[in-house]
Amino acid sequence: MKVIAVVSAKGGVGKTTLAANLASVLAKMGRRVVVVDLDPQNALRLHFGARLDSIDGLSRATLAGTSWRAAMFDGIDSVTVLPYGALTEDDSRRFEGLIEREPRWLGASLATLGLDRDDIVIVDTPPGSSVYARGALSVAHFALNVVLADAASYAAIPLMERMIDAYAAPRAGFVGTGYVVNQVDQSRQLAKDVLKVLRTMLGERLFPGVIHLDQGVPESLACDTTVLHYDPLSQATNDFRACGAWLMSRLDAFDTPAAASRSHA
Ligand SMILES: Nc1ncnc2c1ncn2[C@@H]1O[C@H](COP(=O)(O)OP(=O)(O)O)[C@@H](O)[C@H]1O
Ligand SMILES: [Mg+2]
Repeated sequence: MKVIAVVSAKGGVGKTTLAANLASVLAKMGRRVVVVDLDPQNALRLHFGARLDSIDGLSRATLAGTSWRAAMFDGIDSVTVLPYGALTEDDSRRFEGLIEREPRWLGASLATLGLDRDDIVIVDTPPGSSVYARGALSVAHFALNVVLADAASYAAIPLMERMIDAYAAPRAGFVGTGYVVNQVDQSRQLAKDVLKVLRTMLGERLFPGVIHLDQGVPESLACDTTVLHYDPLSQATNDFRACGAWLMSRLDAFDTPAAASRSHA
């Protein structure tokens, strides 16, 4: 099992969009993929055809002491989806208290899913520091940081680097961090300038392409599906495919213990 934590310092940058569409790309590449929604907004499932009024998910299963497997469903593009679920305010406080006190909760729960070594788990998180992002980074093999090509995202990079250093990097199983720039409008000079700065700053940690701003992305969500499914020939679909291939190459490059130890040298 390879766990990819999708994180960002800021909200609205496209974490959930990337988690869903990269899951779809990797599943189409033949991998078994489980997407796990650790964001109380419970929006990831909407990319995979879930009903808006469904309330099942990992939060309710955890509180009820029932299995996470029973809360999963088979989504579009053969992706297995584990929603966050819908909680009352009281239950939400109870759930967050529970997982705050038990640092191993996520690893222990994922272990019950019976996944194989090559299976991929993509974990979506809320923006910034939270019990959810910390939990995801604490089990992740790879942290995927989503940014926009603007000054606010650039300025917030050190915040996420500190979180990754604190929760993910100290573990032997953690192989590295990658950055993806989303919602890029190449006609804007500022976007081009920020991209240049990011490439110098992040080097090979930055996905060499970008995910373009593409109206097919919000349209696909409005149709309860992924962009790959909604518009296979779109710019965004092309970008997500390239990003998925890059992500797999980054993960597989570090697949041996020797390579993993080199990455920390
Ligand atoms: N590449 C893109 N092109 C156009 N719209 C996008 C793109 N990526 C994300 N969006 C839109 O931006 C909004 C925020 O995306 P979302 O994935 O929910 O962000 P986050 O999970 O980081 O809060 C959504 O309306 C989504 O459809
Ligand atoms: Mg989100």
